Amino acid sequence: MSYTNILSQFSNGITVITINRPSKLNALNKDTIQELHDALDEANNDNDTKVIVITGSGEKAFVAGADISEFADFNIEEGGKLAAQGQALLFDFVENLSTPVIAAVNGFALGGGLELAMACHFRVASTNAKMGLPEVSLGVIPGYGGTQRLPQLVGKGRAMEMVMTAGMIDANQALSYGLVNHVVSQEELLPLCEKIAGKIMRNSSVAISEAIRAINANYEDGINGFDVEIESFGNCFGTEDFKEGTTAFLEKRKADFPGA
Ligand code: COA
Repeated sequence: MSYTNILSQFSNGITVITINRPSKLNALNKDTIQELHDALDEANNDNDTKVIVITGSGEKAFVAGADISEFADFNIEEGGKLAAQGQALLFDFVENLSTPVIAAVNGFALGGGLELAMACHFRVASTNAKMGLPEVSLGVIPGYGGTQRLPQLVGKGRAMEMVMTAGMIDANQALSYGLVNHVVSQEELLPLCEKIAGKIMRNSSVAISEAIRAINANYEDGINGFDVEIESFGNCFGTEDFKEGTTAFLEKRKADFPGA
């Protein structure tokens, strides 16, 4: 598939999706959200892709937010629809992909940008990254899951302060909050993501997808995560990967997983 606002490149088991509107600091307009959905869907359905990395083009921004120019004149109904469609198409969609998704936060991750990073399975940042949810400074609130995922990741008090002040935190503060897992220089950002992806790829992709499902269940209303874990655990016993993983251990050799 060819895209206008993003790039999607596959090599060595990793699909790197780059949001490519540097002149607008990679702001998420409607078309970019649709293209991200399509590229993520394609990568998730590609058996050769074991890990997906999302990043921004240029040296300044991951994503500087939803494209403000697209919604500045919206009414109540249009505002609600914008949030609902975006959440379904991109933010909830990323979170529930069965392929691991890493956000490589290479600069500003503001508003919808931080919300996209938070919807990924985990985050790695470069030292120049700045993160925040500035929506209340525009007279609106985060609408792509930010009010839910930020407190899950950093705790309620820190999330309240970040949202109320509309301020930005730097990469080291994000690290101390647990919002990102690692901080490295900009040059080291993609290599580190590839290194982590390499570790992930050694393991059973089928088991990893069951683990994503079970961990996500902890954050879903009305769902008992322990029950989901039991079901997912049981599912693993019916897979070729489980046979290979346990047999390889008993035969004292490295597992060679057939995968999905
Ligand atoms: N939506 C639409 N356009 C955006 C944007 C957004 N969220 N963020 C940046 N841009 C555009 C700017 O309008 C500008 O376009 P122009 O050159 O055509 O005027 C271009 O990207 C560069 O941004 P600029 O503001 O000139 O860069 P800067 O270095 O001075 O400031 C930021 C960087 C990130 C601090 C600033 O762009 C900003 O505050 N952006 C909005 C952040 C935000 O509120 N996001 C939440 C949206 S809900």
